[in-house]
Amino acid sequence: MSFYCNKFIKQLNLNEVIKNVCCIGAGYVGGPTMSVFSDKCKDIVFNVVDVNEERIEAWNSDDLDKLPIYEPGLDEIVERCRGNNLFFSCEVKKCIAEADMIFISVNTPTKTKGIGAGKASDLKWVESCARQISKYATLHTIVVEKSTLPVRTGEVIKEILDSSKPLENKNSTFDILSNPEFLAEGTAINDLLNPDRVLIGGENQDAINELHSIYKNWIPEEKIIHTNLWSSELSKLTANAFLAQRVSSINSIGALCEATGADIREVSRAIGKDSRIGAKFINCGPGFGGSCFKKDILNLVYLANYFGLPEVGDFWESVVLLNSWNQNRMSRIILQKLFGTLTGKKIAILGFAFKANTNDTRESPAIQICKSLLEEGANLKIHDPKVSKKQISNDLSIPPEDECIKNPEFNKLYSDKKWNKYSLTEDFFNDVDAIVILTEWVIYSKLDWKVISNKLRSPAWVFDTRLIVNEQEVLESGLNLWRVGDGTLN
Ligand code: UDX
Ligand code: ADP
Repeated sequence: MSFYCNKFIKQLNLNEVIKNVCCIGAGYVGGPTMSVFSDKCKDIVFNVVDVNEERIEAWNSDDLDKLPIYEPGLDEIVERCRGNNLFFSCEVKKCIAEADMIFISVNTPTKTKGIGAGKASDLKWVESCARQISKYATLHTIVVEKSTLPVRTGEVIKEILDSSKPLENKNSTFDILSNPEFLAEGTAINDLLNPDRVLIGGENQDAINELHSIYKNWIPEEKIIHTNLWSSELSKLTANAFLAQRVSSINSIGALCEATGADIREVSRAIGKDSRIGAKFINCGPGFGGSCFKKDILNLVYLANYFGLPEVGDFWESVVLLNSWNQNRMSRIILQKLFGTLTGKKIAILGFAFKANTNDTRESPAIQICKSLLEEGANLKIHDPKVSKKQISNDLSIPPEDECIKNPEFNKLYSDKKWNKYSLTEDFFNDVDAIVILTEWVIYSKLDWKVISNKLRSPAWVFDTRLIVNEQEVLESGLNLWRVGDGTLN
């Protein structure tokens, strides 16, 4: 069907049922979210569009192992819905024109230059989206902010939508809603199917009701909360800030446990029993990663400072500072335990993703830790079940050893920074001086330490930054063990 035909088909007035949804951005949020929506709302067509052709090709791949995002349960839903009421394409213009409701699900990284650099979000992708919507949308369209955005971005989007309409679309109208995503990677499908709550912020109750009616297909009414636009935007930043704060809090106490002979697992259990504190999000580790926590807190810091509340800004910034300190602490400890030098030593890195069950490496603690170890001259053998070698190479900004060998220029530049990605065979551990567990993939908790210990170079160390190995098995195999937050091993 041609683009022009579809323009006439679209006849939405508010209070009519949404029939056609477009999601701009086929990333970690847009892809899984629209997949679940399409599975739960068979009467609605969902078009997920992206400018990245390679990503769209991967979403359309017949081989479900090649989907661009690894998320447990996602492949089954895509298989069920793709080609029926779920479509992935680069046809941004056409899909915007057909849509009754458009979700903005594009990336909003922290600005790297200009005013607010290092703290404020870079809204260039959101702005470009708003301009495209303004240009191509027809009749009435509900625009939903799905990406995490700074507070009051809705106002900016509205201004762009209303001010950059071309003459032929001058009668088109818009409503803006904020509907922040609370899914966590690795559990995204379950989070989307059974969320603790769904938040819809907006000014026009009719528009709120339209989105509400979509969620009503599978979410109990009492879980769908309506707020104003600004409260919704700020709630998302606040939720992530509170969660990240818990991780920094427990990691700070973990360091104290190591110094005092206490065990963070016992402390977590003890405080988690207090129903006011709760048992979730108090696992000590190498530091939080992921695309949201750092970015959202820095946004909050920027906002607080902008509105003349520097004490509020400093309070939240300390959560991020503690996190960076904790990540750096990991590499310092490894260096110290390996007699203060890593030159020429082989270190096995288990896990590169920022958490288990995802192939996402954004802000992964593994990046900083591996960079520091390479800087000290270590030779890294990296394993991760889902992260590609290309991704690791991009994150480290250093090509893998096999590419360096083929390229004399690389060979010269990176002769003292060697790493490669391997499968987890027994040979993987040959002559390794230390094993560092950075992601809590289940396979790493089931390693056979007796077999592995015979392969390593003595005195070999196991550094468990995720508290997943069996202490007795490691120690009985004659290996040295260091565990985050565990002062009983020193
Ligand atoms: C987070 C929020 O949980 C989610 O609601 C929001 O929509 C996006 O940001 P995500 O970043 O995908 O989700 O993962 P999350 O499970 O929150 O973990 C974030 C980081 O904190 C990971 O690096 C994880 O390993 C770390 N973490 C989490 C800990 O170190 N300890 C914990 O107890 C919990
Ligand atoms: P998130 O974790 O928020 O989903 P991602 O980076 O995984 O972030 O995905 C965002 C996607 O949005 C990327 O695939 C990017 O190509 C896409 N994108 C950014 N700007 C636009 C745009 N103007 N039109 C279409 N797609 C866009």
